[in-house]
Amino acid sequence: MYAERVLSGMRPTGRLHLGHYHGVLANWVKLQHEYPCLFFVADWHALTTAYDEPGTIAQNTWDMVVDWLAAGVDPSQATLFIQSRIPEHAELHLLMSMMTPLGWLERVPTYKDQQEKMTHKDLTTYGFLGYPLLQAADILIYRADKVPVGEDQVPHIEFTREIARRFNHLYGREPGFENKARESVKKLGSKRAKLYEELRTRYQERGEQEALDQGHVLLNETQNLSLGDKERLFGYLEGGGKMILVEPGALLTEASRMPGLDGQKMSKSYGNTITLREDEESIRKKIRTMQTDPRRVRRTDPGDPGQCPVWEFHQIYSNDEVKAWVRQGCTSAGIGCLECKQPVIDAVLQEQEPMRERARMYEEDPQLVRNIIADGCEKARKLTQETMRDVRQAIGVDYS
Ligand code: TRP
Ligand code: SF4
Repeated sequence: MYAERVLSGMRPTGRLHLGHYHGVLANWVKLQHEYPCLFFVADWHALTTAYDEPGTIAQNTWDMVVDWLAAGVDPSQATLFIQSRIPEHAELHLLMSMMTPLGWLERVPTYKDQQEKMTHKDLTTYGFLGYPLLQAADILIYRADKVPVGEDQVPHIEFTREIARRFNHLYGREPGFENKARESVKKLGSKRAKLYEELRTRYQERGEQEALDQGHVLLNETQNLSLGDKERLFGYLEGGGKMILVEPGALLTEASRMPGLDGQKMSKSYGNTITLREDEESIRKKIRTMQTDPRRVRRTDPGDPGQCPVWEFHQIYSNDEVKAWVRQGCTSAGIGCLECKQPVIDAVLQEQEPMRERARMYEEDPQLVRNIIADGCEKARKLTQETMRDVRQAIGVDYS
């Protein structure tokens, strides 16, 4: 009924680095050839934690979009836009907030985790609690069925599915509802399933309110029933209308294999990154001064690649021949560390060459980027307006 569609967003945190490239961006570049894709800057999401530092977000947004384009995200294949330019996201977020139980939001694991991590900031805000609901609106408004995200975001996709189910239960119906509902009925166990079916028939065929009430009690009393099954069985008990919002699935992005310059995960907060459009000289210097096997103090000391962050770079950038040369040369003290680093330097520079090339065009003419975004926003907005027409109608707040 709905075409396959990929949607993903990224908070504008500024310049992206090799970790983003080898994790998320390379995946986006691949997906854009396989599906219709929508990629957006989640600037409102950035505000949920950066509400006290305005003025950083716009610059970070433009820098990030240039990095996407530099990495090969192609605006003739994918639709690129900025969340805050599509006010319908906010409208859907608001409407869904009416039916979202607080407990569901409080239970999303990132809520407490982030609060505990970011102790320097007051995150006991309305907006921060609503972070996953805003994300749900981002996804549901495009009826996107595939959302590429990292492991940490999976609870948000699961939450989005629950919100979609609840919405459809209250205002409509999901596809394949009938079959799924029958599967859910089986999970009640045979005795309860039989009672449930009787009550459902009595309510739907004879309109007995009492049967409906008893059905609700039955479902509320049944333990070990997932939220999804429960929502579905409530809907099935009453009958329903058409499906309005589509339950998305997560397309798990493989964790980036990119280690940082110090062997820890590459991350801005560790100060161990190489950014995507970094100056060549700076890249050379960073890799030349990278830590190596700490036991290789002198050139004549043999080393162990297993203890060396440079070796991890070779895993990503070097072919078998070079890797054999490293292993042999390192363990026999046949090569020096600077020598060993040279192929890595060459490979990183070579990887960035086309990125630098593409970025140059956009840096010289920022209007190009504005136009790409304006175009993308217009396309995105058309899709959201369609969904919102259905949503308003379903909820009963359209006055046309
Ligand atoms: N929360 C996501 C992150 O931190 C960003 C995001 C916002 C997103 N809205 C989204 C991702 C919708 C996928 C779909 O990475
Ligand atoms: Fe690391 Fe290469 Fe030096 Fe061995 S030779 S310690 S792998 S940089």
